[in-house]
Amino acid sequence: MYSLIMSDSVKIVFGDKSYEFPVVKGSKNERAININALRAETGLITIDPGYKNSGSCLSEITYLNGEKGELSYRGYSIEDLTKNAGFLEVSYLLIFGFLPSEKQLEKFQIDIHKESLVDEDLKVILKSFPRSAHPMGALASLTSALTAFDPDSVDVESEDEIYSAVVNLMAKLPILCAWTYRKVKGLPLNYADRSLSFEDNIAQMFFRHPTEKYKPNKIVNNALNKLLILHADHEQNCSTSTVRIVGSSHAGLFASVSAGISALWGPLHGGANQAVIEMLEKIKNDGGDIEKYILKAKDKKDSFRLMGFGHRVYKNFDPRAKIIKKAADEVLNDLGVTDPVLEIAKSLEKLALTDEYFVKRKLYPNVDFYSGIIYRALGIPTQMFTVMFALGRLPGWIAQWWEMRKNNEPIGRPRQIFTGKTDLKFVPISKR
Ligand code: SDX
Repeated sequence: MYSLIMSDSVKIVFGDKSYEFPVVKGSKNERAININALRAETGLITIDPGYKNSGSCLSEITYLNGEKGELSYRGYSIEDLTKNAGFLEVSYLLIFGFLPSEKQLEKFQIDIHKESLVDEDLKVILKSFPRSAHPMGALASLTSALTAFDPDSVDVESEDEIYSAVVNLMAKLPILCAWTYRKVKGLPLNYADRSLSFEDNIAQMFFRHPTEKYKPNKIVNNALNKLLILHADHEQNCSTSTVRIVGSSHAGLFASVSAGISALWGPLHGGANQAVIEMLEKIKNDGGDIEKYILKAKDKKDSFRLMGFGHRVYKNFDPRAKIIKKAADEVLNDLGVTDPVLEIAKSLEKLALTDEYFVKRKLYPNVDFYSGIIYRALGIPTQMFTVMFALGRLPGWIAQWWEMRKNNEPIGRPRQIFTGKTDLKFVPISKR
């Protein structure tokens, strides 16, 4: 079988027959073969473990170019957005598709504040977790529990119902994230403060000490704002695809996001930011011998991987890693914090980028390589790093879920090729 890309179609010859399939083209000239009719016409399906070559949807939300290391949300570059916008503004852009006016943003913030209380019984659920529970497990459960307290499914045709579900989740997830942090630290839970901006309120719920008057720390809040924006969306990554596929069965938004939180937890995905710090700590405690760990990362017999390195799509620098690396220097400097693992991370990066193994495989630092160093400087425990990732990714998950539902996409149900045994006859247990 071979195929020929024409301008807007592909000819596939299989056996003694030839078939033609349309090619779709995106705003940045990306192309895909539309194989909607493939099985009906040829009896063939495609196989692509990990979907490395398969697109699941057409989307207007996020564009990334892995070869060039570019990332933009609704047409705005992340460099532009992290320099000029607030996280709530970027959330609005991702979810509704345009940058809000001052009035629209103010209304969004007021409507979110109105919903910024969670049912007190959620505290009972939080209390039932052991202090040692991983906060991502607690967050996934608490997010799913929101459905129990707000069971109305969302009529996606109704703009009002979607808006209220969006506002509800934008208000409640930050509270749940802050409560998982307070639980890990053994601190009393904070409530939202409606006099603060959305971004400052997040910091307040995390860091306000019950015995002191809360004073926003500009350095901390700016760093948090930048990190949340950089994590806000990333097209069809593992957790976003999970949110979409769960939502495609018409499960609710809260249940879909709860599934996305569980997918993000994995160390190959959002859990990598925790794994990076654990790796850097291990290298530090092992005498800082980075050559040894570069060799381990290259050794196929060794399960060790250079966490925070490599990416399914970026075969160049992850543009987020560049911004976070610069911010790490600034934040630690502004806070007067030194962290030996930052120097180890920089030396690892330098060595890896000149090593044939990494160069040949186009393995560069990704978003998770430096982010944990900033979270740590902000006093956030390692186990909480992926919760911070989930908090940032919330608007992206919402936007992608809504786009999937608005486009009335069919339930996600991949096919397979069966390779197991066939036509066996049952043998009674007495004869086995
Ligand atoms: C995120 O998809 C997204 O957009 C995700 C994300 C988002 O914002 O949502 O960007 C967030 O998840 C970032 C990635 C965080 N994960 C890590 O940092 C974990 C470490 N990285 C890897 O495990 C790996 O690079 C992945 C999982 C990120 C990507 O894996 P792929 O695309 O399946 O690539 P692969 O495993 O097939 O690797 C290709 C080659 C292999 O070697 P060969 O078989 O060709 O000899 O590169 C090697 C791999 O062994 N390799 C690594 C490596 N990553 C890949 N070798 C050592 N260390 C690594 N980190």
